[in-house]
Amino acid sequence: MTGISHDILVIGGGLAGLRTAIEASKSGQSVAIISKVHPLRSHSVAAQGGINVAIKSDDKWEDHAFDTVKGSDYLADQDAVAIMCREAPDDIFELDRMGVLFSRTPDGEIAQRPFGGQGSARTCYAADRTGHALLHTLWEQVNKRGIKTYIEWFVTSLVVENGRCQGVVVLDWSTGQLHLLRAKAVVLATGGYGRVFKRTTNALINTGDGMALAYRAGVPLKDMEFVQFHPTTIYGSNVLLTEGILITEGARGEGGHLLNNLGERFMAKYAPAKMELAPRDIVARSIATEIIEGRGFEGGYIKLDLRHIGDPMIKAKLPQIRQICIEFLGIDPSVEGIPIQPGHHYSMGGIDTNADGTTTLPGLFTAGECACVSVHGANRLGGNSLLDTIVFGRRTGRKVSDYVGHCAPAEPSDDTLRLMEEKIDRLLSRRLGIKPSDVRTASAVAMSDHFGVFREQRQMEEGIKKVREQRERFADVAVGDTSRKFNSALLSVLELEMCLDLAQAIAESALARQESRGAHCRLDFKDRDDQNWLKHTLAINDNGKLRLEYKSVDISMFEPKARVY
Ligand code: FUM
Repeated sequence: MTGISHDILVIGGGLAGLRTAIEASKSGQSVAIISKVHPLRSHSVAAQGGINVAIKSDDKWEDHAFDTVKGSDYLADQDAVAIMCREAPDDIFELDRMGVLFSRTPDGEIAQRPFGGQGSARTCYAADRTGHALLHTLWEQVNKRGIKTYIEWFVTSLVVENGRCQGVVVLDWSTGQLHLLRAKAVVLATGGYGRVFKRTTNALINTGDGMALAYRAGVPLKDMEFVQFHPTTIYGSNVLLTEGILITEGARGEGGHLLNNLGERFMAKYAPAKMELAPRDIVARSIATEIIEGRGFEGGYIKLDLRHIGDPMIKAKLPQIRQICIEFLGIDPSVEGIPIQPGHHYSMGGIDTNADGTTTLPGLFTAGECACVSVHGANRLGGNSLLDTIVFGRRTGRKVSDYVGHCAPAEPSDDTLRLMEEKIDRLLSRRLGIKPSDVRTASAVAMSDHFGVFREQRQMEEGIKKVREQRERFADVAVGDTSRKFNSALLSVLELEMCLDLAQAIAESALARQESRGAHCRLDFKDRDDQNWLKHTLAINDNGKLRLEYKSVDISMFEPKARVY
């Protein structure tokens, strides 16, 4: 056993993790970040379009809050949304002072572009590389503060003893050695689970680790049925590595049109007032409907047309989109429409928490996409996820340092470490067995096919059966590589196990919700049902069995109304 100990361990080196660590470090406590990749390779770096805030003289935080709540199909907790939208301006100006290179207006103000579902152009951006700009700046701040980082260390388990989280067990990827790291508090900020699905905008690293760790420790996962499908991901193949690449909503914010095979701007039928800038759930469903009803292009896609925007504007505002089109599709978006399809993008659900990042387990906190506050409810507005990482990362950092200031030292046994050592020995010693990639593909295909944009009871029941079969097959997987150093096969088996836990939570939560709300669209229950379903789902791991419970939604600001755009 090694003797590593900190006051606070932040798991995850993306925006939420870095922002939490920066804030927590202000207390003088010992804070460390553990990340399975270098923080600058965290998926936050891929965020393109921008970050929302009401800072113009004709915009108010209350309007931002209203748009967010309406976008969420009234499932967001409105007290938390109010906190996010009210505190956003100070956070954005702080980021600006830290050095984030936001795009500017001709008079030097932070520029803002229109985004889906918003009544005002309130999305600040750095061309179409906003996540990149934010992440690099926060990483500088982490280094300036001398915050310790453990890079390419993978957390395998939370250490929970005497009813409290007291640290983590970590696999150092470079050596294969397991470590017990003690801490008075642990913050999970590990991002999303995109790889649970086949077609996703998410990086290979997005395997929902934090959500699975919390779930295994008995902490509820909230609203897992709400999965965001981004309307515009590149149509293409997995083999050519084009499938699912994100084409930012900023492209529509800058005036891009969606066209079917008749050359029609079909959004006029589905959301006449907002057109291409309706919220994502509506645009994704509209695109899927056009394709299903035969108005897509051969193979099943729609075109995102930027030609009228013109080459100079595309180069200035959407340089990465242009580069992606040229490099991955061999097309110039100022000359040809971009072939797109909806694809998995984001998880509205996550670890049940509140606006301060606390969970039901003392000593365990959470922030960012792996957390569900909930400010996104049943459908997140584009540009609100970066904001969520910053506002709630800061708040969680403050809360966790208050908690640590009052709690006893962590003195866990090495039981969790020993159990994990035995498990890894068992996995590595199995010579023959099922190929993990077969299980991963079968489960991801089942999730994309059975829990996609449209859902229906029979189809979901079949999906649950397929996921269950893959969970059973997992018991017989063989890693195939017995070495200890940089064993990426071992890492991907541990990640796969996490994906399988989450697939079950998503699937069971989705089957149970008998209504359509936001991104959860059921063909057999077409309407929103506030009478019975204006409530959060909690998926709880009860000694290895999944149990569902429900919890009320805060609707203290805006009365739920029909959602028309
Ligand atoms: O389309 C985008 O740029 C994605 C933004 C977001 O998910 O917030």
